[in-house]
Amino acid sequence: MKIIVLNGSPKGIESATMQYILYIQKKYPQHELKILNIAQQIKKLEKNDEKFKEIIEDVKNSDGIIWGFPLYVMLVPSQYKRFIELITERNNEHVFKNKYTALLATSIHFYDHTAINYMNAICDDLEMKYVGSFSADMFDLMFPKKRKQLILYAENFFHTIENNLPTTRKNLPLIEQPFDYIPGMLEKEEVKIDTLGKKVLIVTDSVDKNTNLGRMIQRFQNCFSTEIEIVNIYDLDIKGGCLGCIQCGYDNVCVYKDKDEFTEFWSVKLESADILVFAGNIVDRYFSSRWKMVFDRSFFNGHIPTLRERQFGFLISGPLGQNANLRQIIESIPELQESNLVDIITDEYTDSRIIDSLIYNLAKKLITYSQTGYKKPQTFLAIGGSKIFRDNVYGRMRFVFQADHRYYEEHGYYDFPHNDKYAKKMNDKFIPLTQNEKFRKVFYSVLKTEMIKPIKRVVDNPDK
Ligand SMILES: Cc1cc2nc3c(=O)[nH]c(=O)nc-3n(C[C@H](O)[C@H](O)[C@H](O)COP(=O)(O)O)c2cc1C
Repeated sequence: MKIIVLNGSPKGIESATMQYILYIQKKYPQHELKILNIAQQIKKLEKNDEKFKEIIEDVKNSDGIIWGFPLYVMLVPSQYKRFIELITERNNEHVFKNKYTALLATSIHFYDHTAINYMNAICDDLEMKYVGSFSADMFDLMFPKKRKQLILYAENFFHTIENNLPTTRKNLPLIEQPFDYIPGMLEKEEVKIDTLGKKVLIVTDSVDKNTNLGRMIQRFQNCFSTEIEIVNIYDLDIKGGCLGCIQCGYDNVCVYKDKDEFTEFWSVKLESADILVFAGNIVDRYFSSRWKMVFDRSFFNGHIPTLRERQFGFLISGPLGQNANLRQIIESIPELQESNLVDIITDEYTDSRIIDSLIYNLAKKLITYSQTGYKKPQTFLAIGGSKIFRDNVYGRMRFVFQADHRYYEEHGYYDFPHNDKYAKKMNDKFIPLTQNEKFRKVFYSVLKTEMIKPIKRVVDNPDK
């Protein structure tokens, strides 16, 4: 069989992910696995339609497609996302329709599920026959048990194609809801909001003021008594997507630093704002690839939350209500930055008055929360994710991400349980005692009341 591998790594063949493909190829010489370096060549594919058509021709003549990609900031790299956009922009969806397909991703398992969900949805939207996903840690290939699983996965993919087996679909097609948002004037009770010295910055990829998103942004700006600054990410000189070279790991300096405006945009413009409003259109199952480029390029900061203690708002045009995966990604951004997400407003309400009032309310709350310093507690989205970073930066990735390590050490990120003296005392005392059955009975009968004792003390003395 002829299998086309669409390589999503900007590193081309020098990619960890492609080693998994080359390994499968060695084990199955009877099949041809042809690797096409999509992400690495994206600029050519965008400019040169002939080159793009060659890829499409390969897809057309294949028995199956493997989407092979590294995780970049919870999704696929921006260059790969751009390729996915080109499929639709150039009306080539039909070539992918009914093709058997499978995913192969490598990562450190930080939000690999959101990238897999995204690619699964893309395959469903292209009406491909989705066989499954294999999300490997980047070094899994070194372990015989993991290699065995990879081979079983590949075997199943080939078997499914050869026997024309049925496949399941996870995502229903998106339902379009045509609606023009027309903002009104401020209501009588809606007085213009004073920013109280807080710096508010809107960042967007909206290029047309006469779209729902363009109008939502204007409505937001109109809520304030002073002018609110806006940066359009298309106006920034960004030479390209993240190359995955990781040279920034040493000192947070991007190889593009003096070649384009991105570092300055992030480190000066973005970091000087107290309140950030990100505004974007949903393009396929995420924001635009331009937005993705911004998130990928912010990786020069390593795993350091450079936008701490900010208030975030999102203005979105598109069917977010049909996209729980994207909502999760959005919610995780402020959390991982140790900041606060105030709200996400979309144009799905199909009622301009409701959207007007929601935007006003967002504007107001952004200022209030910025003043009071309100921040929701982090959830699993950040707490779970941060532990993956902590363990990797402390351990196997420290020599690469030395800047992260310095920051993590200085800011007490290495909160492994060993330095929790209270926990140690309790464990040392009670683990031996509970070996005794009689003690255990008493212990578990009073545990409920004993467990809440320290926090109850606070409730009993609220003014202390
Ligand atoms: C810009 C950038 C962003 C990354 N984002 C993630 C991520 O969100 N989650 C994760 O688990 N790994 C992430 N990684 C790690 C890569 O996914 C991992 O190293 C992968 O194996 C690289 O594959 P490749 O060599 O095929 O490009 C990121 C790496 C880079 C360079």
